[in-house]
Amino acid sequence: MDKNEELLKRRKIIQVGGGKERIEKQHTAGKLTARERVNLLLDEGSFIEIDDHVKHRCTYFGLDKKTFPADGVVTGLGKIGGRNVAIFSQDFTVQGGSLGEMHAKKIAKIQDMAMKLGIPMISINDSGGARIQEGVDSLYGYGEIFYRNTLASGVIPQITVIAGPCAGGAVYSPAITDFVLMVDKTSKMFITGPEVIKAVTGENVTQELLGGAMVHNSKSGVAHFIAKNDEEVASMVKKLLSYIPSNNMEEPPFSEPVEVPLDESLNTIIPEDPHKPYDMMEVINRVIDPGTFFEVHSKFARSMVTGFAKINGHSVGIVANQPRVLAGVLDIDSSDKAARFIRFLDAFNMPIITFVDTPGFLPGTTQEYGGIIRHGAKLLYAYSEASVPKITIITHKAYGGAYIAMGSKHLGADLVLAWPSAEIAVMGPEGAANIVFRKEIKASSEPEKTRQEKIKEYADMFSNPYVAASRGYVDSVVFPSETRYYLVRALETFSSKAEGKPSKKHGNIPL
Ligand code: HXC
Repeated sequence: MDKNEELLKRRKIIQVGGGKERIEKQHTAGKLTARERVNLLLDEGSFIEIDDHVKHRCTYFGLDKKTFPADGVVTGLGKIGGRNVAIFSQDFTVQGGSLGEMHAKKIAKIQDMAMKLGIPMISINDSGGARIQEGVDSLYGYGEIFYRNTLASGVIPQITVIAGPCAGGAVYSPAITDFVLMVDKTSKMFITGPEVIKAVTGENVTQELLGGAMVHNSKSGVAHFIAKNDEEVASMVKKLLSYIPSNNMEEPPFSEPVEVPLDESLNTIIPEDPHKPYDMMEVINRVIDPGTFFEVHSKFARSMVTGFAKINGHSVGIVANQPRVLAGVLDIDSSDKAARFIRFLDAFNMPIITFVDTPGFLPGTTQEYGGIIRHGAKLLYAYSEASVPKITIITHKAYGGAYIAMGSKHLGADLVLAWPSAEIAVMGPEGAANIVFRKEIKASSEPEKTRQEKIKEYADMFSNPYVAASRGYVDSVVFPSETRYYLVRALETFSSKAEGKPSKKHGNIPL
């Protein structure tokens, strides 16, 4: 056979992966193939495939008689929005996208390239996990990938798409990466499948209920985004990349600045009645560049809002209490959610804008037994450690430990602004009066009247931003409508921020 013909023949075999029938099965299941996903994500004509001729070398259980095109994973380099990325996409049509020795070596090679080039690593996972026939070589493979995920963490962004089943070891590489996007209905993540669970615990559970996209987006917090299908997930990855730099030495992408007029209506957004909530999303959307908010973890721990935005073209990260959900309380999950996002922002040179309206940490045995102390400490740690520009706006309640935890001056915020509606105190006036003036209230001939007087007394003293401002804990009190102006100016000014931290190998964040 002519040498060129041979290459052509080999290419054809590689391109069809597990064959027409399995591709059809993949399509019927509502999934694209590994190659279709790569083509959808990358700029047209930009893909350079690597290691397409790699073959497994396992001879156990009849594998010597089987060939797996590209060993079940498509790897290479390409561009998204004109920027270079490294990518792998597991091919479920080839032995269930299972991971053996050579499949893993391909992934490890592309991870190494991403690191050398300082470009984002995009992983598309659709795999039955460790290739069972290859035994310990599959486990070796996963270990090599996890190790590289960890070395790359904080150096290049690592973005994972879960586009099919991800069983066993297949879930841990995604879990180490920065963002996990799951496709609704077709994607699953679990350590042990329903059959094993049934055998061990007797529990009957479906794959969807065990590790479907909604479960991991809303309950476990393992996933940050949910997409309707493979097409939508591709556009979400592109959008995500438009906010973040390619590596930790780069500044995030800058967009065209936009003129936004002062929004006077913001001045009345906080309701007079302190028990009436408002939507923090409204506040966020009215101070950022219109339409640029991209929420992260939108279905998880919803008393906290996290997401990317642009302010006068600058890419920033937003961390905000959401008074509409549990009054904006800090609990185990919301602390974890914010802390992890803050660490991403800090690693990738993105300013942190914090909006505060929280009554405090959630009390109760569920939270205490679950380790709210340990989890809340992560938030304190993440804010304190972050050396990127930190700008905090206190819109309303900032009570107790939660005031400190939410990007306070004391944890190194560069600019803390408060709205006239801010209340900065150890706790709310009712709780405070009940404790501090207990004796007076009890001894009073009209206890309720005295209680109300004491509540007012405490509120008059602390339910405002001026005590904190008089100490310099708040840098200035501003009208809500002035917030955007201050943010724009602060982002320009703090871009030259350089803050030294004590040298150490690494800290010991309370995990
Ligand atoms: C080898 C596998 C495989 C695997 C699937 N296949 N998973 N081959 N090793 N892990 C093969 C199937 O035999 C089948 O081949 C083809 O891929 C398609 O799989 P189906 O079962 O037909 O597909 P589907 O019905 O959609 O089910 C998908 C699935 C299921 C849910 C992923 O295949 C499954 O449960 N697989 C095993 C999952 C698992 O237990 N993995 C190991 C985890 S242990 P044929 O030729 O018949 O079509 C692990 C340890 C690592 O990962 C720990 C590291 C920390």
